[in-house]
Amino acid sequence: MDQYRVFGNPISQSKSPIIHQEFATTSGIDIEYKAQLVELEQFEQVVREFIDKQGKGANVTVPFKERAFKLCDELSLSAQKAEAVNTLTFSNGKILGDNTDGLGLVNDLINHQVNIEHQNILVLGAGGAAKGVILPLLEQNPTSITIANRTLSKAQAICNLHYNDKLTASSYQELMEGQFDIIINATSTSLTNATLPIAENIIASSNVCYDMVYGDSLTPFLAKAKALGVKTIVDGLGMLVEQAAESFTIWTGIKPETKPVYQILSNSIGISQIKANKA
Ligand code: ATR
Repeated sequence: MDQYRVFGNPISQSKSPIIHQEFATTSGIDIEYKAQLVELEQFEQVVREFIDKQGKGANVTVPFKERAFKLCDELSLSAQKAEAVNTLTFSNGKILGDNTDGLGLVNDLINHQVNIEHQNILVLGAGGAAKGVILPLLEQNPTSITIANRTLSKAQAICNLHYNDKLTASSYQELMEGQFDIIINATSTSLTNATLPIAENIIASSNVCYDMVYGDSLTPFLAKAKALGVKTIVDGLGMLVEQAAESFTIWTGIKPETKPVYQILSNSIGISQIKANKA
């Protein structure tokens, strides 16, 4: 039976084993997919040991995505632009790296009937989560993507990585006059309950607000968007399922059904805790 892992620290919260086992069942194949806690200094060694045991592939989550990026022999374009890898494939003695987070976000937006083409998009945050989604968003041909961040230089660095005139870096203050169709919260503020320094009128004039974080109740950002009358508000649970589906396809060649798994997960999130969208 083909063996897969998700490597992270911490890892006990991971929903990836449930998601991938469901994908395998509904696709009619047998796989073994386990979550493995990896000590901080042992990531590279653990990957090599898994390859020696004939492992086929692995997901990588916090805090190892950048180290996985450095470990790969070959990188997909999305991994190159994200400068992080969440999907490893072991093939013919080589380590292939991909990043499916951004496509997961795009597919989830499409599932929610959100059109990205010709839209003005505002991405809040310029950390790892933001960096991973810019290329797949650009590939949907939006009119513009503005990246706003507390530390402006990090937003500028992402723009420099892409050389695309649709991309602009901005401080939160500079946004004041802006109007955006879709706002994507890629900051970690929903996890810490910190208030995003973004003016209410910007949120109120958007059509879609998306938070990469999910929980059993609305994140503070989505709660504010709802109160301000934003039509479509979406949390990151679907992105989690869709990024997993992209990894599954890379490994098996099969495009799994995602709706049943999404339903199982949304029914099971009982505990009142907001979770980061981490595999
Ligand atoms: P992740 O991998 O989840 O993206 P990260 O790389 O630490 O985590 O990035 C966190 C993001 O949330 C950053 O964009 C950070 O802004 P800075 O780059 O200025 O630090 C943003 N963030 C965190 N707390 C914030 C706050 N209180 N207000 C605004 N932005 C915040």
